[in-house]
Amino acid sequence: MTLVFATNNENKVKEIRSMLGDHFSIITLKEAGIDIDIPEPHDTLEDNAREKSSVIYEMTGKNCFSEDTGLEIDALNGAPGVLSARYAGEQKLADDNITRVLHEMDGQENRQAHFRTVISLILNGKEYQFTGVCPGTILTERRGGKGFGYDPIFVPIGAKKAFAEMDIAEKNQYSHRAKALQQLITFLKEAATKPLS
Ligand code: IMP
Repeated sequence: MTLVFATNNENKVKEIRSMLGDHFSIITLKEAGIDIDIPEPHDTLEDNAREKSSVIYEMTGKNCFSEDTGLEIDALNGAPGVLSARYAGEQKLADDNITRVLHEMDGQENRQAHFRTVISLILNGKEYQFTGVCPGTILTERRGGKGFGYDPIFVPIGAKKAFAEMDIAEKNQYSHRAKALQQLITFLKEAATKPLS
């Protein structure tokens, strides 16, 4: 089975491709010849994920999925949350976003946070969602040069390294995206054995 992955984020594509195995494959928006910046107008990850998969389903008529991810920090009442990409402005610059978070967390003792990923799958016209959560802590300064987004300031529970100090296989052992994707893979494997309803 081939699915369109409704994203322009090459890092997400790499992480997801590294987990797919032989069960199914994805084509990216670029590979599908689609060049749009899909809007994220809603105030929940669930609604934004649905928006992205619906837009691409309407454009292509093909089975597809999207994902929306947020970093939710306890001491900031869940911020940056759904605003994670634009936390320091519409330019969506990861380094500026990190600077804002480090500033707001300055002197804060409670550094607990989690990443949450919501995947929205549209299979034969019907939508299904899968959620993955990765708990961890926010560092007081950047560490590592791998990954993307907030990876340099997030250490998952059970690890000693920041995400940005891990290669993709190691990040996948902990990550929100990997957990949500695992559920998607299990669902698709089951769906492949059942007749269409
Ligand atoms: P979106 O899901 O592309 O809207 O991502 C929201 C924000 O979270 C962006 O700033 C991303 O760079 C960041 N982000 C998404 N996934 C991850 C991740 O796995 N690690 C670190 N930052 C992430």
